[in-house]
Amino acid sequence: LLPGASAIPVTPALLVDNAALEFNLTTMTSRRPGTALRPHVKATKSTDLARRQAALGHVGFTCATPRECEGLAAAGLGSDLLLANQVVDCRRLGRLVDAGHRVTVAVDSEATIEAAASGGVREVLIDVDVGMPRCGCEPDDAPRLADLARDKGLSVRGVMGYEGHLMHEADTETRRTKVAESMEILATVHSNVGGDVVSGGGTGSWDNNEVVTELQAGSYSLMDGDYGRLELPFRRALSVLATVISVNPKGWAVADAGLKALALDSGPPTIDGASVWFCSDEHIVFSGLDVRVGDRIQVWPMHVDPTVAKHENLWLVDGDTVLDSWPVDLRGW
Ligand SMILES: Cc1ncc(COP(=O)(O)O)c(C=O)c1O
Repeated sequence: LLPGASAIPVTPALLVDNAALEFNLTTMTSRRPGTALRPHVKATKSTDLARRQAALGHVGFTCATPRECEGLAAAGLGSDLLLANQVVDCRRLGRLVDAGHRVTVAVDSEATIEAAASGGVREVLIDVDVGMPRCGCEPDDAPRLADLARDKGLSVRGVMGYEGHLMHEADTETRRTKVAESMEILATVHSNVGGDVVSGGGTGSWDNNEVVTELQAGSYSLMDGDYGRLELPFRRALSVLATVISVNPKGWAVADAGLKALALDSGPPTIDGASVWFCSDEHIVFSGLDVRVGDRIQVWPMHVDPTVAKHENLWLVDGDTVLDSWPVDLRGW
């Protein structure tokens, strides 16, 4: 059963299945309790959802943008924030530190160390390249950068290395082996850099990353079609509610959720029991379902993070009952 127009007047709208969300949250907590999980908010962008994670004992959060740090801090969730990204102007983060929040930033160069020190941040992690061609210093360079950070008065809490290139490796054993190899790099760097924190990992390494002291998983709470291809226990909790706006006698139907409501970077979305033909700006075209104009359907996104970021709120539902409406308040930069 899907919520009707009186409960959710405008489509496309994001639905969060409360039971699936709860299952995902508690499943992760059972494997990574307390501070062994530092949930990444980039996937969900909602302080209300973050509050549910904090209530389960995960009081530190991972962020990708200064805006996410600011929003969490304003919501009273700023006791231990990690900006797991390179920031060239840290003054907004410094203001959070001055206001009494704890903010740690990842650094991988002299420039971002300088930005942290001059911007008023006091704590850093050395971000290490563990195989994904993105941010992260050369492993051999990490001790030098750590010394430089300490010389500038920064406290080095430890290291970070995100093995994002392995998250969607479909074969469970291959994923396990490759994650272990990648994390060996991080463990070696950690022994040379010091500190209490080894941060990294995500939904795809939730049960096989044995090196990190804190897992940065984010997508696990809502899940998506791309992660659904792996053998993970998490249930799909996020869908897009759409309204059928046209039914063509030649055999296809059209609903009002197009690429402005759904991220397509990981492939086209799915509709249970139907074949999706394509999405255009405002439309999804499909066949195989017996629908009429005005019917509401559920569309399953392949990539949760950019899908959530396209919407203003999340409707928390139990079947056709709307339990709550959560603003996607951590959007923006
Ligand atoms: C730095 C970092 N850590 C962790 C994650 C893991 O997120 P997820 O659990 O959504 O795969 C990501 C996702 O892109 C990331 O960029």
